[in-house]
Amino acid sequence: MNELHERNAWLNGGVAFCATHPAQRWGSCRLVLLGAPGSGKGTQAGLLCERLGGCHLPTGDVFRAARARASSNGKLSSELEQAVGYMRRGELVPDEIVLALVRHRGQCLRCAGGFVLDGFPRTVDQAEALHKILQGENLALTAAIHYELSGDQVVARLSGRRICPDCKASFHVAKQPPQAEGICDHCGVRLIQREDDQPESIRVRMRTYQENAAPLLDFYRNRGLLISIDADSSPVETCERTITALTDAAAATSPG
Ligand code: AP5
Repeated sequence: MNELHERNAWLNGGVAFCATHPAQRWGSCRLVLLGAPGSGKGTQAGLLCERLGGCHLPTGDVFRAARARASSNGKLSSELEQAVGYMRRGELVPDEIVLALVRHRGQCLRCAGGFVLDGFPRTVDQAEALHKILQGENLALTAAIHYELSGDQVVARLSGRRICPDCKASFHVAKQPPQAEGICDHCGVRLIQREDDQPESIRVRMRTYQENAAPLLDFYRNRGLLISIDADSSPVETCERTITALTDAAAATSPG
């Protein structure tokens, strides 16, 4: 794993180790990815980080990493235990738990290399908290990218998703199959299905998303930061569309 993708501090807490970042194409890009579960936020975050630099910072993976650590050493704080329960059911983890976790990892948000936040914020309170953290450091978001996908497509993507329990790479049984069936291309480990990709959890996640999406999108629309992207094409095409939209937005706001 190269240092641009050093995510241990984000996943496990502790001191961020991102010693040097090569010159970034646009300076530091600070992006928030929004969209329904399964709309491709995680996939796009990986591709965008490769193209633009910065770290992929997913909140869902922090909770999953904590649970994996707990199953190997048996320890999980009561807050994280609660968080894992909410997650398994497909409900949102309460704001105070998520915000404590994000503040604890604030160094990753201040990093000179920039970031792509995936799964945070999900509520207006979380968006306001992020705004304050960045404002306190004199930093600003580059954009909030909203990936749009129909409900049927979301269900098809989530029910076919398989992930690597080690490196967290994501595959799809039909659309992005691994080279050897059921095995991670990167580390050779057997792929698994996420607990919250079962039909009942998917229904709850979709409902929860629909309840919170409109005010969150308004929050970023009102600040002139929202960019909507049709996510119904291949991962590479969707990433290209995102880069084009970011380039257009940067040109529209640059002086002269
Ligand atoms: P999280 O892990 O963030 O899950 P999510 O938002 O439900 O999103 P997903 O990871 O399911 O989907 P994605 O949009 O990243 O799509 P992906 O790229 O994987 O959160 C899990 C839980 O944690 C939440 O339910 C909540 O409980 C808790 N949580 C996390 N953050 C929180 C917060 N801030 N506040 C409160 N609670 C929080 O793609 C999906 C599939 O489609 C894959 O199989 C992929 O291979 C495939 N695919 C991707 N792109 C394409 C494409 N273009 N064409 C075809 N297939 C594609």
